[in-house]
Amino acid sequence: MSYEEIYARSMGDPEGFWGEAAADIDWVKPWDKVLDDSNKPFYRWFSGGELNTCYNALDRHADGGRGDQPALIHDSPVTDSKTTYTYSELRDAVAKFAGVLKAQGVDKGDRVIVYMPMIPEAAIAMLACARIGAVYSVVFGGFAAKELATRIDDAKPKVIVSASCGIEGARVIGYKPLLDQAIELSAHKPDHTVIFQRPQAVAAMQEGRDVDWVEAAAAAEPADCVPVAATDPLYILYTSGTTGIPKGVVRDNGGHAVAMKWSMRNIYNVDPGDVYWAASDVGWVVGHSYIVYAPLLHGCTTIMFEGKPVGTPDPGAFWRVISENNVRVMFTAPTAFRAIKREDPEAEYLQKYGMSKFESLFLAGERCDPDTLEWAQTKLQVPVIDHWWQTETGWGIAANCLGIEQLPVKAGSPTCAVPGYDVQILDENGNQEQAGEIGRIMIKLPMPPGCLPTLWQNDERYVESYLSAQEGYYLTGDAGYKDEDGYLWIMSRIDDIINVAGHRLSTGGMEEVLSSHPDVAECAVIGAADQLKGELPVGLVVLKAGVDRDHEEIIAELVALVRQKIGPVAAFKKVTVVDRLPKTRSGKILRGTMKKIADGQEYKMPATIDDPAILDEIIEALIRIGYAQKS
Ligand code: COA
Ligand code: AMP
Repeated sequence: MSYEEIYARSMGDPEGFWGEAAADIDWVKPWDKVLDDSNKPFYRWFSGGELNTCYNALDRHADGGRGDQPALIHDSPVTDSKTTYTYSELRDAVAKFAGVLKAQGVDKGDRVIVYMPMIPEAAIAMLACARIGAVYSVVFGGFAAKELATRIDDAKPKVIVSASCGIEGARVIGYKPLLDQAIELSAHKPDHTVIFQRPQAVAAMQEGRDVDWVEAAAAAEPADCVPVAATDPLYILYTSGTTGIPKGVVRDNGGHAVAMKWSMRNIYNVDPGDVYWAASDVGWVVGHSYIVYAPLLHGCTTIMFEGKPVGTPDPGAFWRVISENNVRVMFTAPTAFRAIKREDPEAEYLQKYGMSKFESLFLAGERCDPDTLEWAQTKLQVPVIDHWWQTETGWGIAANCLGIEQLPVKAGSPTCAVPGYDVQILDENGNQEQAGEIGRIMIKLPMPPGCLPTLWQNDERYVESYLSAQEGYYLTGDAGYKDEDGYLWIMSRIDDIINVAGHRLSTGGMEEVLSSHPDVAECAVIGAADQLKGELPVGLVVLKAGVDRDHEEIIAELVALVRQKIGPVAAFKKVTVVDRLPKTRSGKILRGTMKKIADGQEYKMPATIDDPAILDEIIEALIRIGYAQKS
């Protein structure tokens, strides 16, 4: 069947469509309703059904003929090691660690925070929680202790699982000291932590609270899978909202398993037994969905890569991993390819490796600029597929579904809506925009299985953030248009979220941090275009009257403050001091105009600007830090 036919069926008969897809998952108890719409706008998939996600990801394959097949390969150039777990080995390790968690008092429904670098134990901890029905939340390693503390206070974990350190290129980053600091800062305290000690930095342990992973696993009884409701939460993943308080996106068990499995065949065109590689981090949604769940649910071999596209040791790292492991499909963010292209523009390192099994490259996480897409296509000679999605949906909203039908690629567009998603472009009044007209990109409810059913213990914020802009629709937060062929073009965010190296960050959150500095009266943070990372945050600050300290000193303090409060992942390094910020007559800071100025783009003088002369001062200030050069 063609893409058009399959898409039409998913729209016309969603229950039939997803009910059939659900047959690919093992259920302990079948569902009563495929789509339960009895409590609108809270739609639930497969209500009444019971399953275990870990069983479907591991035991089903371990006992069903794939026991000796590699399930997970940990490729770690930073520790010069490679470790393979077969499905049987991974199942046994997960069952043991599930026993460790149980021994620490973790039960079905209890929360566990996982704060781990890219080591197999991160996936083991996630799957062990799924095995016993505990709800976990992975926190990305590049966040500061304060961000971790915010998540501890929201999720209220019984146990936190962590490691002594992570390795970033050539640097060893202590995780345990950050964890200790976060627990100090948080109001909620976990009963225990379980720490995986790595030889690169052995962490000090707190007696009575901290448990050694290896010792505990040696003493633990393996734990079996427990049935959970399809609608029970599997995990919480915190993502940036418009304020400094992150949103706890909830993922359920049933809809998630069905969507993940369906996507592997239909979007990525991979078969059970294939090797699939998502070069991301388990701290992000791509890591959850496509390093851990989807490949394992599908019976593939997944690769967990502890390294960078460049510098570990060279820009040939991706080609080596693809070649050595016979990767069929790879998924990463465009920024990774921009990093490779910058260091090896002619892709000379490619000559060293044979990549005969490699069939396609998928990119997501940020807008894919046509230059990068075309470079990858030319050098790799395989289809390069941009696809668009977000933490909230957990899988592709728009893609070129290679397993259904390969549509022509239009550079700059992630192609068309994926079956299950009714994507519409609406204007401020809720009317559909004409083809080519930019509007708010919205998804008509219900969204397909796998998408967030709500925010963690916060139905109100869920409705307010996503469902209140237009009744019956989910607000993606992106603006863009559909062309005459139904292709989607994602142009910008409508809120203050920026995208730095594929990482989603809130400029509002950074402004909160800058405002907390005693010398700052007012500030604005904008996302300025960056050739490598897509966007980089740039701060403009107005100092309080009477502050006569050296500006450079204050700037250094502000940079350090954002790193300390949000983390190195914010990549916040550029700040400039201005006398005033441009505002509308009603007092709204003109961030959009400043972004255009920083990017050297044409801008219109806003009709509502209070004092046009301020813009000249802003241009000068941005030029001082290397922006606004082209205007
Ligand atoms: N733990 C601790 N610190 C981390 C971290 C982690 N897991 N991940 C990143 N950091 C730190 C980095 O060391 C860096 O710190 P620095 O300012 O001291 O140098 C900072 O956070 C910013 O990291 P990053 O944005 O990753 O920049 P980078 O310069 O280290 O690498 C790329 C740039 C493009 C190579 C890298 O971002 C990349 O490979 N991205 C693509 C893949 C990806 O992860 N996409 C995510 C969604 S799919
Ligand atoms: P995250 O929740 O971190 O995955 O970030 C989601 C956001 O990243 C989206 O709402 C978009 O703004 C942006 N994004 C992700 N993928 C793409 C893409 N393929 N094209 C354009 N923007 C994208």
